[in-house]
Amino acid sequence: MHSDRHQLTRIIFAGLNHIDEWRLGNPLLAASKGYPRKFAAEMLDDFGMVFVDVVLDHRTGRPVCHEVNGPNGVGSDALTGESSLRADNEARQAVCRATELGLVSSVGRVKSPVVTIHAHQHWKAFRTGCEFYARVADFADCLARYMPGNDMCLRGATESLGSEHISVVAGDVPAVAAKLEVNTSSRRLEYDGRPVVFIGNPNLLPELVRIGKLSGGPRLAESVDLRVFHAWRLLRVIHDKALQQQLLPGTGIDPLRCFEAYTPEEALTRTRESLAHGPIVLKPNGTSGGTGVHVVVPEMTDDDIASRLKAVVADCVAKYGPNAEATVLPWRGFEFVRSTGYPLSDGEHLWDLRIAVLFEPGMAHVFPVSMRITPKPFDPRTFHLDRDQWVSNVSGRNGSLLLSGLDDEALQIVGWTSGKLEQAFQAAVGWTMKAWDEVLPI
Ligand SMILES: Nc1ncnc2c1ncn2[C@@H]1O[C@H](COP(=O)(O)OP(=O)(O)O)[C@@H](O)[C@H]1O
Ligand SMILES: [Mg+2]
Repeated sequence: MHSDRHQLTRIIFAGLNHIDEWRLGNPLLAASKGYPRKFAAEMLDDFGMVFVDVVLDHRTGRPVCHEVNGPNGVGSDALTGESSLRADNEARQAVCRATELGLVSSVGRVKSPVVTIHAHQHWKAFRTGCEFYARVADFADCLARYMPGNDMCLRGATESLGSEHISVVAGDVPAVAAKLEVNTSSRRLEYDGRPVVFIGNPNLLPELVRIGKLSGGPRLAESVDLRVFHAWRLLRVIHDKALQQQLLPGTGIDPLRCFEAYTPEEALTRTRESLAHGPIVLKPNGTSGGTGVHVVVPEMTDDDIASRLKAVVADCVAKYGPNAEATVLPWRGFEFVRSTGYPLSDGEHLWDLRIAVLFEPGMAHVFPVSMRITPKPFDPRTFHLDRDQWVSNVSGRNGSLLLSGLDDEALQIVGWTSGKLEQAFQAAVGWTMKAWDEVLPI
């Protein structure tokens, strides 16, 4: 039985139909398998986390990667039932940044009040409260341990800050962004006028662009100091899934064919060209949760494709609100990869496996998170008409469609051998190091 101080939080969010990924956790089994696996990673010189989503191609059995998620990603509970390792990593970054920014005195007291920020998806799309709010509490505890003598307070984004030295703010992206400003002389982010020393969610950046507090594009890095973000050097690549593929060669995972297009005409032409090789998944820029992700197949007419391209943008506007167009382009297209099948009573389902890479200076901790099974069996003739046949990240709320990354039997059924799993772990770390080293933050 998991009986700990987070239980009430989990009961509340589970009651609101949030994903209970913590239920998959098994600390003893994880330890017996040597998870999290430690990898030396000299070139990683700061803190952060990514989640690499991989599948095995049903034609070749080789691993491919759909997406690398940033530190807003979820699943860190799935190994042991809690995210204290991640929370501790975040807190250590917060302490480092506060110190480097000259905000801490020689006796460890903050010179003036500072703020840390944990932001989650818009409430209507938010389904990971069980993990998120428990982690914020763990983060606050770690930070209190690392910065004794400072008065600390947990704050919701809708309440005012008080006289505390350190405010640990948690809330949804729009509520947090409403109180964030860029100080134009220091280029630092301030929340309610106080310096921010940690931000866990990179999706605050597109939100700040959407609401006009930051100009997007190449000028963004000039106008704001990004180092308070967890995994800050990876911010650009986290929102650019084509760049993610370009970094894969040499890691042990083959890249997917992909393209980018900035106008509807170009997008239609490039999609049509790419369809010569098979179905294509269209995706918007800088979103999450499957928003605006569509598939097109060679049999479709140009009109059908044009309406799917429109739907990519319309879905984002529906989720994020007016001015979302400012951040959802370019369109990106990726070859559709059918995974091996996971057999259920109604047929073979597609799936993906999430691999977590939590890193700190010189070291990466790697572990398998969970296998997400699509809600409906795959039918090559009709999948383009039914997202439930191929989009896996909607399935977490049904326990039978979310399996533990520690479940050897499930992994073997879809073709993971220990060698392939090892190859995927190494690729995930290799990718992270390459991205950290080669890509400019914005
Ligand atoms: N190239 C692809 N081939 C097949 N399925 C894909 C591909 N890319 C994404 N998917 C499916 O669509 C889902 C959402 O795509 P993803 O890029 O992960 O978007 P998001 O950032 O919104 O999570 C994935 O979880 C996966 O199930
Ligand atoms: Mg995804």
